[in-house]
Amino acid sequence: MAGPTTYFDPTDSAGLEPPVRDLIERRARAMGSAYRLFYQDPVQLARGSGTKVYDVDGVEYLDAYNNVPSVGHAHPRVVAAIAAQAALLTTHTRYLSEPTVNYAEDLLSTLPEHIANVMFTCTGSEANDLALRIAKLATGGTGVIVTRNAYHGVTTEIAAISPSLGGVQSLADWTRVIPAPGPGIGFAEAVEAAIADLALAGIRPAALIVDTIFASDGVFADVPGLAHAAAAVHRAGGLVIADEVQPGFGRLGTGMWGFERHALRPDIVTVGKPMGNGAPIAAMLARRELVDEFNSHGRYFNTFGGSSVSIAAAQATLDVLRDENLIGNARVVGDYLVAGLTHLGRFVEVRGAGLFIGAQLENERVAVAAVNALRARRVLISAAGPANDTLKIRPPLPFSIADADRLLTELATALP
Ligand SMILES: Cc1ncc(COP(=O)(O)O)c(C=O)c1O
Repeated sequence: MAGPTTYFDPTDSAGLEPPVRDLIERRARAMGSAYRLFYQDPVQLARGSGTKVYDVDGVEYLDAYNNVPSVGHAHPRVVAAIAAQAALLTTHTRYLSEPTVNYAEDLLSTLPEHIANVMFTCTGSEANDLALRIAKLATGGTGVIVTRNAYHGVTTEIAAISPSLGGVQSLADWTRVIPAPGPGIGFAEAVEAAIADLALAGIRPAALIVDTIFASDGVFADVPGLAHAAAAVHRAGGLVIADEVQPGFGRLGTGMWGFERHALRPDIVTVGKPMGNGAPIAAMLARRELVDEFNSHGRYFNTFGGSSVSIAAAQATLDVLRDENLIGNARVVGDYLVAGLTHLGRFVEVRGAGLFIGAQLENERVAVAAVNALRARRVLISAAGPANDTLKIRPPLPFSIADADRLLTELATALP
């Protein structure tokens, strides 16, 4: 089976309860073979609240993994905002709407001034797709530089720059791969070499795109040379796209955006996942002249991108993030977790920022065993990285010190 082995292996389902096995078989018959399930003993979730989720039998799990319900599962303010707007009207961006403009202004106020326009989409994939279209039009180039195990989404264009999906062989001939960050990796030099390689093939660079926490590359919060790499791309006529779909909206515990950590000045920023706390909303944000250039080639409309209900969810999510000081909480509890994980003395390296943590183990076998053992102890995490040897810990932002203690206690027992 392709893909990380923290996924359920259908050839090894003998130990499961008959009703679970039956549902898995029905799912595969109806939904086909391309989907994956987490864990060797898949979890059937029924509801969530804050940092906890509950299965269909009412058993509680600590959620140390899900970054989409970022302000907490089923946050009452977000739920109320969605329900109130759904009861009034749901429509799209071709009608004038003050709440939509208010949210656009509010979101833009969290970004550097040169990022002046926002365009709404439903998914991070669409946001990155739009970002690439804009970058290609603005630069006249087609070359795109990505990291070795990057994931940026599922459209045809974006799958062609996402080596973690189908491997390097699945990429386009205009894509160039640079190594994931790590010891001995000179990021700026790698990007310069990629630009030179594109030039050899007669391809002008359109963009360097980076997930600013390098989530699928194994979680790297500090990457020396990233700002220099961006400067090299600009010199070569390309743009810099900060993919904030994973780290954005305060998860890293300092400011709202991952690119701020790296002193990057992106031309385009893409956001998604936590933006509506589960409502399908994402966005592409860019310099005004880039959007104007795009507009001169054609209009943009996305039926559900920026729908009234999604905007209501996004506004409530942003309000809660500020009112409950969740960025500060991410910093305090994240630091506590990193210290606790380091104290366990079992990891090759503990990396991350705020509530986005990668804890690297000696190999994939140990990491997968730990993920499944934790699931048995009712704590949900996963693994990441090119070698799939890094525990990925990325809980809802209201994660408390007590939640962190529970994770650390269970992890101490779960580690083989
Ligand atoms: C860094 C990054 N960019 C983009 C995406 C795509 O977002 P979506 O699944 O909403 O299309 C993902 C999804 O996992 C992601 O991790």
